[in-house]
Amino acid sequence: MKNITIAIDGFSSTGKSTIAKELANKLKYVYVDSGAMYRAVTLYAMQHNLISEEIFLKEKLINELANINLGFKFNPDLGFAEIYLNGVNVEAEIRNMKVSRLVSKVAEVPEVRKKLVEQQQKMGMHKGVVMDGRDIGTVVFPSAELKIFMTASAEKRAKRRFDEFVARGEQVTFEETLKNVEYRDHIDTTREDSPLVKANDAIEIDNSTLTRKEQFEKVYKLAIEIIESD
Ligand code: DC
Repeated sequence: MKNITIAIDGFSSTGKSTIAKELANKLKYVYVDSGAMYRAVTLYAMQHNLISEEIFLKEKLINELANINLGFKFNPDLGFAEIYLNGVNVEAEIRNMKVSRLVSKVAEVPEVRKKLVEQQQKMGMHKGVVMDGRDIGTVVFPSAELKIFMTASAEKRAKRRFDEFVARGEQVTFEETLKNVEYRDHIDTTREDSPLVKANDAIEIDNSTLTRKEQFEKVYKLAIEIIESD
């Protein structure tokens, strides 16, 4: 069986990472959550007072990029690799609302993207990888054998994210969550560097109507067809 590269792109909260994780586990591939990397850089900027709702010291962040070390370490209890920022596990912290509100600004910076894309390409060098994000099929792995583009309505996605916040005990409203989803859609699709677009050869999956199991089976079947072809 050959190893392939699987790129899963799409809007936020479309369930990309759930599918990507399941697929990686089933195929015994490495899973990389590229969004976690943009979130971890954002967290670093927050910790060093380089970004808030009011300010963004972009040049300072660019100058500090060399001090930001990101890594992933597999957690067997969770079944996926958690992200580490300068040696500290920040998997939980990067999911909070504050990071979600600021991450699009950081992800717009070409220098940040360049650094993270290089690291992502290195992680996928030997194939056998499932990576999810916004520009994986277009920029990071333009020759990925399988590209999936996931969509779902903003309301459906906000509901999913809101339920996650509630489960973690975060004090946010559904309206706030929906606004954040729409705001990020806007920035992600209109930014100059690597905007979120569907690659020409990507297969679109609208999961507004599909169950998680149906989505997984659809994507898994596509992957197996490619893996088993000559
Ligand atoms: O997938 P996510 O919601 O965790 O991603 C967080 C942010 O990072 C998202 O608003 C856009 C950005 N991102 C990106 O620009 N490119 C990627 N490959 C992954 C995420």
